[in-house]
Parts: sequence; C-alpha cells; structure tokens
Amino acid sequence: IVLLHALLYIALLPSFNLCLDPEWASYKLGIFICLNCSGIHRNLPEVSRVKSIHLDFWENDLVEFMKTHGNLWAKAKYEAKVPPFYYIPHSKDCLVLKEQWIRAKYEREEFVATSTAIKHPWLPCLGVGCRTVKVQCR
Ligand SMILES: *[C@@H]1O[C@H](CO)[C@@H](O)[C@H](O)[C@H]1NC(C)=O
Ligand SMILES: [Zn+2]
Repeated sequence: IVLLHALLYIALLPSFNLCLDPEWASYKLGIFICLNCSGIHRNLPEVSRVKSIHLDFWENDLVEFMKTHGNLWAKAKYEAKVPPFYYIPHSKDCLVLKEQWIRAKYEREEFVATSTAIKHPWLPCLGVGCRTVKVQCR
C-alpha cells in the first residue's frame, strides 16, 4: 500500500484534472482514479477493473503492474491523438461528461495512436457525440 501511494503521487505530479482525489485504481489499465471515475470504470468490465487503494488487497503482481504503467503511461497511450479543441472534462464536470470521455478514451480507444480511429479519420461534429462542443449537463 505504501508503494502504491508513492506511485500514485508520481503519477499525479503533472496535474491530473479529471480526478481530484484518486483513492481508487484500475488494475487492468494501470491507472489511479477518483471515486467518481471508479463508478464509471465499474461499468466497463471489459476494459477496466477497479480496486480501492486503501481498502482492497493488492497482490504483488498487481503492484508491479501499476509500477510499470500509471497515469503518465496511460495518458501517453490513450490520449496520443486527442483532436485539437476536444473538450477534456475536469473534476468539477458532471459524470455524464466524464463517462463520455472515459468511454471514448479507454473503451473505444479513439485517441490511441495505432487504433482504428486512424483508419477512420476523425470527422467533424454531426450532432450526437459532438467532439468539439462541450456537452451540456443539464
Ligand atoms: C466528483 O464529481 C463532482 C461533480 O460531478 C465534483 O464536484 C467532485 O469534485 C468530484 N470528486 C472528485 C474526487 O473528483
Ligand atoms: Zn476521476
């Protein structure tokens, strides 16, 4: 757990706007996340599995996995091709907006450098799922 905390702080050195208080982690993606995002990740069992940093048991191999991955690694991989003007949610934004971002990033892998998104180049906004305009939460 002490090691996880050390990793967490390294992962968060460059300010990570989406999560204010990352007390959770996705041990499948190797990232540290907050309670809000952990709820979203729980709905994506194909791509993410969540554990509490404090409350859950961490096997050595999972700690090793977190050590070799982490938020910086995930950012480099999953945000490699975020289009200019794409609105990246902040911690204060609503869950719907965060969920859209998390699904686009980790489930559809839209911004991975080698993803199919490259083969199907990003199209201008056509309404639903518009990428250039911030979705209204209410
Ligand atoms: C959780 O989300 C709410 C808004 O949806 C936000 O105000 C709060 O700061 C978030 N908590 C964390 C830990 O990011
Ligand atoms: Zn979060």
